[in-house]
Amino acid sequence: MKQIIIITGAGKGIGKSIALDFAKAANTKKDFTPVLILASRTLSDLESLADECHSYGAASDIIQTDIADIAQIERLITTTLERYGTIDCLVNNAGVGRFKPLDEMTEDDFDYTMATNLKGTFFLTQKVFAVMEKKRSGHIFFITSIAAETAFKSSSIYSMSKFGQKGLVETIRLYAKTCNVRITNVMPGAVYTPMWGEVPDTLKNVMMMPEDISAPVVNAYLTAQRTSLEELVIRPVCGDINE
Ligand SMILES: NC(=O)c1ccc[n+]([C@@H]2O[C@H](COP(=O)([O-])OP(=O)(O)OC[C@H]3O[C@@H](n4cnc5c(N)ncnc54)[C@H](OP(=O)(O)O)[C@@H]3O)[C@@H](O)[C@H]2O)c1
Repeated sequence: MKQIIIITGAGKGIGKSIALDFAKAANTKKDFTPVLILASRTLSDLESLADECHSYGAASDIIQTDIADIAQIERLITTTLERYGTIDCLVNNAGVGRFKPLDEMTEDDFDYTMATNLKGTFFLTQKVFAVMEKKRSGHIFFITSIAAETAFKSSSIYSMSKFGQKGLVETIRLYAKTCNVRITNVMPGAVYTPMWGEVPDTLKNVMMMPEDISAPVVNAYLTAQRTSLEELVIRPVCGDINE
């Protein structure tokens, strides 16, 4: 049976790796036929990712979306439902961060971060959950962060947004348990992705890679439907990097 899987922030980093690992699983896992709905703001990223997914034999569809815009969230959902009739999985991965000392943070940094990490994640989840609640099945992943529980000096606004996402995870779980919907909070430590910009080799050498996060996410989805992997805390073996 087809599995309709929306991945936000699919164009780069962890989201891209999640899409590719779902695509590869289409080849290796019997009876798993994913349709990957690839959503982020940069069309060229999504086009090249869709080509890669097809090379693994997986179906994908591009819906260019800025989740900070509620109208675009509506369009993502209505287009998915018009084309495929349902949503089986949502990976709330799109996220932004601006990292600098407390006294350098601006109102624009605050609004920009909250619009994606909190407002966008909340309204997309609210609308997708309604679809899953009605059909009494589905799986929602939140790629939050260890910064959802641990403070870092350069991450004040980012941490606020990630602590906030964890609040949404805990709340939605109360609803999800009553209607057979699985919720997984994924809390990675430092992963080498474009979010970090340029990093020295010394730092890169102790960071995780996107596939270290995507493999457990795909496994959590493919595990028995009766089982919910509620939380995945994934750190570099050397622990947290205080940047
Ligand atoms: N890298 C880490 O160390 C780390 C650790 C813990 C948690 N995380 C979390 O993991 C998630 C992915 O991070 P990453 O490191 O892979 O970041 P990344 O390399 O910067 O990729 C983020 C992706 O999200 C998309 N995106 C950003 N804002 C969006 C919006 N408003 N609407 C739709 N798409 C949007 C970006 O594409 P466009 O710009 O084209 O839209 C990009 O494809 C984030 O939630 C991040 O907070 C990352």
